[in-house]
Amino acid sequence: MSNPTEAAVRSSRHGEVIVITLANPPVNAISHAVRSGLLAAIEAADADPDARAIVIVGEGANFVAGADIREFGRPPQPPSVPEVCNRIEACAKPVVAALRGAALGGGLEIALAAHYRVALRDARLGLPEVLLGLMPGAGGTVRAPRLIGAPAALDLMLSGRHLDAAQALKLGLVDQLADGDDAQAAGLADAAERLARGAGPRRSRDAQGLADRAAAQAAIEAARAGLAKSARGLLSPGKIVDAVQNALDLPFDEALKLERQAFLECIASPQRAGLIHAFFAEREVLKVPEARAAAPRPIASVGVVGGGTMGAGIAVSALDAGLPVVMVERDAEALARGRANVEKVYDGLIHKQRITADDKATVMARYSGSTDYAALAAVDLVIEAVYENLDVKKDVFQQLDRVCKRGAVLATNTSYLDIDAIAAVTARPQDVIGLHFFSPANIMKLLEIVVPAKVAPDVVATAFALAKRLKKVPVRAGVCDGFIGNRILARYREAAEYMLEDGASPQQIDAAVRDFGYPMGPFQMIDLAGGDIGWATRKRKAATRDPKARYVEIADRLCERGWFGQKTGRGWYLYPQGTRTGQADPEVAAIIDAERSKKGIPPRAFSAEDIVRRYLAAMVNEGAKVVAEGIALRPLDVDVTFINGYGFPRHRGGPMKYADMVGLPRILADIRAFAQEDPLFWQPAPLLEQLVAAGRDFASLNHNDHAQPPR
Ligand code: 3HC
Ligand code: NAI
Repeated sequence: MSNPTEAAVRSSRHGEVIVITLANPPVNAISHAVRSGLLAAIEAADADPDARAIVIVGEGANFVAGADIREFGRPPQPPSVPEVCNRIEACAKPVVAALRGAALGGGLEIALAAHYRVALRDARLGLPEVLLGLMPGAGGTVRAPRLIGAPAALDLMLSGRHLDAAQALKLGLVDQLADGDDAQAAGLADAAERLARGAGPRRSRDAQGLADRAAAQAAIEAARAGLAKSARGLLSPGKIVDAVQNALDLPFDEALKLERQAFLECIASPQRAGLIHAFFAEREVLKVPEARAAAPRPIASVGVVGGGTMGAGIAVSALDAGLPVVMVERDAEALARGRANVEKVYDGLIHKQRITADDKATVMARYSGSTDYAALAAVDLVIEAVYENLDVKKDVFQQLDRVCKRGAVLATNTSYLDIDAIAAVTARPQDVIGLHFFSPANIMKLLEIVVPAKVAPDVVATAFALAKRLKKVPVRAGVCDGFIGNRILARYREAAEYMLEDGASPQQIDAAVRDFGYPMGPFQMIDLAGGDIGWATRKRKAATRDPKARYVEIADRLCERGWFGQKTGRGWYLYPQGTRTGQADPEVAAIIDAERSKKGIPPRAFSAEDIVRRYLAAMVNEGAKVVAEGIALRPLDVDVTFINGYGFPRHRGGPMKYADMVGLPRILADIRAFAQEDPLFWQPAPLLEQLVAAGRDFASLNHNDHAQPPR
């Protein structure tokens, strides 16, 4: 059909019932065409003398996944979703929403404005706006508490989680469940039944879920107290709580009006822009050339070489995805340790009552171990996680080349090493790839898929398919020292160390970085991961370090004393009696002072803003170099890497998006100013200079227009 409004919404007559179908593939997002089409269709059906009831369904496998996020940031075009919802609720005839698949955000709000709700068993219901820096803006904050009570509504809106159909029924968010996959049939059956019983409209605005005012008020206060701990500078969670308070205190229409105002404030916030960028970027990272060009190889079993920190975590990740895992270690003792490392994870879950001993037994039945590489002969994919040493890894890959079947994917979890060199020791470099997991590997979302020169496209596609199976967020990276993440990390850590030597304390730097939105600062992070890891890397690189480059020795002084962080009871901070919150250590302060004196550096003051500007400038500058060299396909790949693997605050969209929001000219000006002190370290990335000269931003390099929220 040529008219998009007609195409997006269709009405059809089924006896005395009008079915309104929302059709905006793939998820029937509420675009302008859907809003205006739905409003017109509801008005027509309400006015239709031959119609006694109305059913609303989504076309295909979903009801409606919410407002069309791509329209945010553009001037709003009436009618708004709340207007449409109000018109649905005002209908003089019973309106049934028949839900399948996603009924999320504005989609659920349409359903809540309908008079009755029937859900197929595959339905997923939620108000996930908070995850996009938003709040429900079409009556959700006012209708949901009336329907299911304030505690459940607050939980739904503040967590953003999806309920399945059975949970929604239990809460009273839907009235009925139906079998099968035909939402229209379920809706028609429900409408017929209600008409037969003489049911008329039943409006959520009249529901009594807030009747127990004291309980509602207690839930609001509990939610507010919870936010004080968890919301870390986010705008929309507080607005959600305010809106529920309004729903309790004010008449329905007034509360609705205030909800709309608050929703528009959220829409206008940079947090919304950052979070929606992250949403789209996490979908764009999947679109790599190899995944388009080739079909993945089937993976039904996985081998893991090395059962240390990473090998065990990777094994758990694969076991959790239902895959059988064979672990190979060097000797019986190490193998027993490897198995124990795996079991420890499940024992922890049993302890927290998240799984039962039987669940653990079921998972462990998929696990086997061996000290003989021959045990890997039949697996479809092997992930190597032995020591970070090129010779050891080459040896392992020669063994894998010898025993693994043809077509098996051979992956390394190396953090820094040259994967082309590892591939070159095998007779099958086309099958060798990097799968860089992050610690703890069964928890952290990021998976860098490192693509060496000779790897076959279908191996890259296999890695992306595996990531999906393991519920990871994959990012394609090229081979270089540290790939995308660790390479950039090395630069901003250096910037932090320079500030330390120039006058800032570890506590000041960590606090400034936390205030920016990170869960912890760089020195806390080193104490958590273990200072020995970086020390080993520094020693390995000492011979090739540019003698002209500034080198801060403070971390080495700590490591020489065996102060590796939490595991040794002290590092940058003190951890008396195994505590996990560090305390300032006067001896560390004295070491820092001594190093400054040795180099004749008079300490100077850094404000929190100074710290963040340097930290971010170093990150963005190296990010630009990584993009220019093709190590990252696009700036958005850098963003996704840092959000999912390095604690970068998601609401800021990632370092490159942050740079765009601050403005690239300012970032470049900062770098040039810092270069006055240290021109070698602060060499502006040529790409950054080119973009500034052309008046462009990083977003312009993201290729896919819709990778960016519209501006
Ligand atoms: N608007 C526009 N596009 C959307 C969208 C939305 N609300 N939701 C999903 N899409 C797009 C995706 O970008 C993707 O596009 P692509 O194929 O070009 O990459 C496509 O739909 C399919 O999405 P997924 O790849 O995510 O598919 P899945 O099957 O894995 O997941 C989903 C489906 C659970 C619906 C998931 O997409 C999702 O969580 N979407 C967002 C839901 C949401 O946050 N809704 C609230 C929106 S705000 C709102 O409604 C305000 C209201 O209160 C007024
Ligand atoms: P680890 O020291 O905890 O474990 C290494 C394991 O490999 C040991 O159990 C050892 O017995 C085993 N091993 C050594 N040689 C072997 C061989 N020839 N055959 C079989 N097993 C052998 O080390 P960790 O931390 O698990 O690191 C492993 C790899 O993962 C390294 O390449 C590291 O750079 C990388 N990595 C580490 C991260 C971390 O945070 N620890 C994060 C991401 C990657």
